[in-house]
Amino acid sequence: MLINEKISLFARDALKGLTAKNKYLLPKYFYDQNGSRIFQQIMRMPQYYLTECEFNIFSEQASSIAKALVPAHGPFEIIELGPGDGLKTKILLQALTGIQQDFTYVPVDISIYALEKLSTDLEQQFKGIKINKQAGDFFQIMKDLSEQNGVQKIILFLGSNIGNFFPDEQDEFLQLLSRMTAKGDKVLIGFDQKKSPDIIIDAYDDPTGHTLDFNLNHLLRINHELDADFDISQFHHHTSYNPVTGAMKSYLVSKAEQIVTLGKLDKKIPFAKWEPIFMELSQKFNHEDIHLLAKDYGFEVSRNFSDKNNYFTDSLWIKT
Ligand code: AVI
Repeated sequence: MLINEKISLFARDALKGLTAKNKYLLPKYFYDQNGSRIFQQIMRMPQYYLTECEFNIFSEQASSIAKALVPAHGPFEIIELGPGDGLKTKILLQALTGIQQDFTYVPVDISIYALEKLSTDLEQQFKGIKINKQAGDFFQIMKDLSEQNGVQKIILFLGSNIGNFFPDEQDEFLQLLSRMTAKGDKVLIGFDQKKSPDIIIDAYDDPTGHTLDFNLNHLLRINHELDADFDISQFHHHTSYNPVTGAMKSYLVSKAEQIVTLGKLDKKIPFAKWEPIFMELSQKFNHEDIHLLAKDYGFEVSRNFSDKNNYFTDSLWIKT
């Protein structure tokens, strides 16, 4: 690498994580084109109960959710952080348009392509819908949106994405959420619930190997983007769930002593035999955890929408 050559944020984060005392990689980088495709496969696996549970909550309780979200008077904005394929959003928008039409939908996503596809879809299905797309990093856009514009806000953060934040990121996220909302604004957040450890482990250590591929794809992305030489056959996927804390953790463990070269950064990364790379935290919560989080950041839990097994909860918070 040339001195002074600007390196990408991806390169910087990979270098920082792989040279740390306890190696780690950031889960936000799972989602290149291939990673997003593998994640779609994960979401279709029967073991990955989260998708179906949250979909059932939306399809079976859409009108109650919509009624609880819509403000009594005036126009409002629905800001959705990471709408994904928009399947749940469409169910909700359908129910909302039956009650109150005067709103703007603000989807926020890192991918402009995903946003354009979603907007085109929604414009076809909901004639005249007002959409204000925001492409970029969540945290930056939340900072931009924290300027109060006097319009009532409903913020959606679905799919248990909150569980992937490290504690300091979760704190920053909830602080920003608090800053961008005014008294009476509402937030709907998806939380995967603490449950039988066997069920949780099965969802992240599936027999089909999609989760293994999802994790290994992160190494392949580093190979591709940073001219590195990870041999993915030399890494083992390991998961652990702690029922006390609710922390579901995924690792890739080096099967051998080896040296990986990051060609673009001119850096060699030594691995001891059985040394792990911490790949992802998928935190699980119970209702008490959710209640305390809401309270700590100036919200009150107004209602929890859960599936029949109480595997997943979309928690509705109101800013106090
Ligand atoms: C996106 N996120 C909520 C998923 C989760 O459950 O933590 C990502 C995932 N990782 C492995 N499987 C799914």
